[in-house]
Amino acid sequence: MSTHNVWTHKGTFLLAAVGSAVGLGNLWRFPYLTGENGGGAFILIYALTIFAVGIPILIAEIMLGRNSRRSPIMGMRFLTRTHKTSRGWETIGWLGAASAFIILSFYSVIAGWALHYTGLMLTGSLDGADAETVAASFDALLASPPLLTLYHSLFIGASALIVGLGIHRGIENGLRVLMPALFVILMVVLVYSAAIGDLAAAATFLFTFNVADLSLEGWLQAMGQSFFTLSLGMGAIMAYGAYMSSDASLTRTAFAIAVVDTAVAMIAGLAIFALVFGAGLDPGEGPGLMFVTLPLAFAEMPAGALLGGIFFILVLGAAISSSISLIEPVAAFLVERFDLERPQAVSAMVIASWALGLLTVFSFNLMAEETLFHTLFGRSAFGLLELLTNIFMPLGGMLIALFAGWALTHGEVMKEMRTNETWFRVWRFLVRFIAPAAVAFVFLRTIPQVEGYLLPAIGAVVIVGAFAAGRTFLAERQGS
Ligand code: TRP
Repeated sequence: MSTHNVWTHKGTFLLAAVGSAVGLGNLWRFPYLTGENGGGAFILIYALTIFAVGIPILIAEIMLGRNSRRSPIMGMRFLTRTHKTSRGWETIGWLGAASAFIILSFYSVIAGWALHYTGLMLTGSLDGADAETVAASFDALLASPPLLTLYHSLFIGASALIVGLGIHRGIENGLRVLMPALFVILMVVLVYSAAIGDLAAAATFLFTFNVADLSLEGWLQAMGQSFFTLSLGMGAIMAYGAYMSSDASLTRTAFAIAVVDTAVAMIAGLAIFALVFGAGLDPGEGPGLMFVTLPLAFAEMPAGALLGGIFFILVLGAAISSSISLIEPVAAFLVERFDLERPQAVSAMVIASWALGLLTVFSFNLMAEETLFHTLFGRSAFGLLELLTNIFMPLGGMLIALFAGWALTHGEVMKEMRTNETWFRVWRFLVRFIAPAAVAFVFLRTIPQVEGYLLPAIGAVVIVGAFAAGRTFLAERQGS
């Protein structure tokens, strides 16, 4: 049965997980959120959550996948049965499916922008362009719903095709080339950005930590980003973990994923902000940041059109290896639960997500001005979708941490972790107490402050729900 397949090589899980983790989150979202939130303080919270909360939850999530060897929803159902805990823990699976569906919807629209820029680069349309021309070309793209919809459809269609045909598991060879190539070209971009831009200003901006600079919602965004960039808290890693061989080291794998992922984000950030400060652009430009800065560097480089073309193709590759990890868990669930054929399951998920993606498309044009949406939620539709994922992913991660920390037995964890007792204790302390407390702290601090009426309400329901689930679980545990 497909649920019991194991990756072909021992290192493949790592490769697939890095493929999932490294994507638009590092190259597009990290720099733009950092810029909007004033730099260093944002990075500090982001890095702290990656290492104190992200890595332990990453280990927990792989563990649940490898222990159940099923898709997230069915896996959680299996684990709640075998551990005689409340079925409420299946929320992890459902919440994950909801996050995947929402993330894919806007992820694909943004990846569509990269598709557009691949074309612009390869045709040399931006050769020698100055900052204003580059910015104007980006604005023109955003103003066109048909063009954005076309690119969105192409990207999501390509991802669906890969998962639907089941070739995503064979993608390891592609990733072996793609990831190092992306790294090399990012370094080239960094060197050029340093030459034509202001690297010192970029470094000061990124690494001056003044926590007082960070707005309350910035805290939520920083935590959300650390989950987003690690593909954490929604079952993607669990779904991949289900195929991971039993003897690969969890701890080392989790560290490797986090380190590579963070390194890519930092290099992209340095390159982009060196250009921003060199050309006098606005760091708080927003979602377009990467698309108005990097083409500028390529416009000045010798052979920039070609290098730029290659760069955006690699960005697309990194984005596709992430988007397939958004489709896989939901599709696997539909197959297991409703006996759908794989192509049908993938189509169902992707068509729904595509439709939701139109909201993001319109956020940049038809619905860019004040609409009912802005009045109700205090932000654009795209902003709302991002905010929801900033809540859902940490919440999912918190539940994963609690379940792995409290429900799995000592023996099960040791069988998975294969470390000594000290590391086991450190990890268990982190997932039992620190990670859930950190997530709860940020939620309690920030959600009530979020602008707009409906979100604080949703946030309150979510927090109460989480505590209720925890209590039921403890009660049942004592009863059994
Ligand atoms: N981590 C990816 C990125 O940074 C995005 C992503 C892929 C993701 N799969 C995910 C985010 C699952 C959250 C959950 O581009």
